[in-house]
Amino acid sequence: MKVDMYLDPSLAYRPEVAPELSASKASFRNYTAGPLLDRVFSTYKLMHTHQTVDFVNRKHIQFGGFSHKKMTVMEAVNMLDDLVDESDPDVDFPNSFHAFQTAEGIREAHPDKDWFHLVGLLHDLGKILALWGEPQWAVVGDTFPVGCRPQASVVFRDSTFQDNPDLQDPRYSTELGMYQPYCGLENVLMSWGHDEYLYQVMKFNRFSLPPEAFYVVRFHSFYPWHTSGDYLQLCSQQDLRMLPWVQEFNKFDLYTKSPELPDVDSLRPYYQRLIDKYCPGILSW
Ligand SMILES: [Fe+2]
Repeated sequence: MKVDMYLDPSLAYRPEVAPELSASKASFRNYTAGPLLDRVFSTYKLMHTHQTVDFVNRKHIQFGGFSHKKMTVMEAVNMLDDLVDESDPDVDFPNSFHAFQTAEGIREAHPDKDWFHLVGLLHDLGKILALWGEPQWAVVGDTFPVGCRPQASVVFRDSTFQDNPDLQDPRYSTELGMYQPYCGLENVLMSWGHDEYLYQVMKFNRFSLPPEAFYVVRFHSFYPWHTSGDYLQLCSQQDLRMLPWVQEFNKFDLYTKSPELPDVDSLRPYYQRLIDKYCPGILSW
């Protein structure tokens, strides 16, 4: 099965990409006009209308039983190949190449951190949600906390939330909303998508990766925090200690998309050894 609809707005559209970046870097996530922008906008409009406290709680229940599929990590990586976005001009190859490219970029820069290499391979596996019929706005794109007022750097902040019922609810529409100051992101309900789903899969299946790995997976699409510096009123000291890992990871997530495709077959044995070390066998998804 091919899913042609695939577009990750999180990678395709970044209004804040800094001008000091090189021309090649700036060409990622930097679309200001045209049909792609319309499509990105409508994805965020749906996301910002329907991602509510109630919706996210229901998704946690729906996917919190891990009864959707039994498979190995490498089988999940192969499933990503069914996700091709033919409309994303950055990428015209199967999604699993992005997984291997991200992993290899990290491996080159951090040769001694094998767990970090594996995070590169794993980070988008939650996108298999789309193959199970979940709508794009509940799988991809930037994430944000539900249960409090969206902050200024959330993309299309001023034009997409007007129909979200939570913003009419006094419990959820102040700056802190339902949270205590500095409560820690682990106590925050994030909008539902591939980050949170894979984090839950890793926890349920007891991956033996370090806490940083869980953290990077869970918050890699939380651009309003890791790139724009918003939501600090919800962060604990622990979150601030973890932030540099998420930012380090993001470099490779964004900028390793290259037309030179890795020779995936020659890389498989190395990554299979990491899988056998940290998350072996048949897992529950
Ligand atoms: Fe991602």
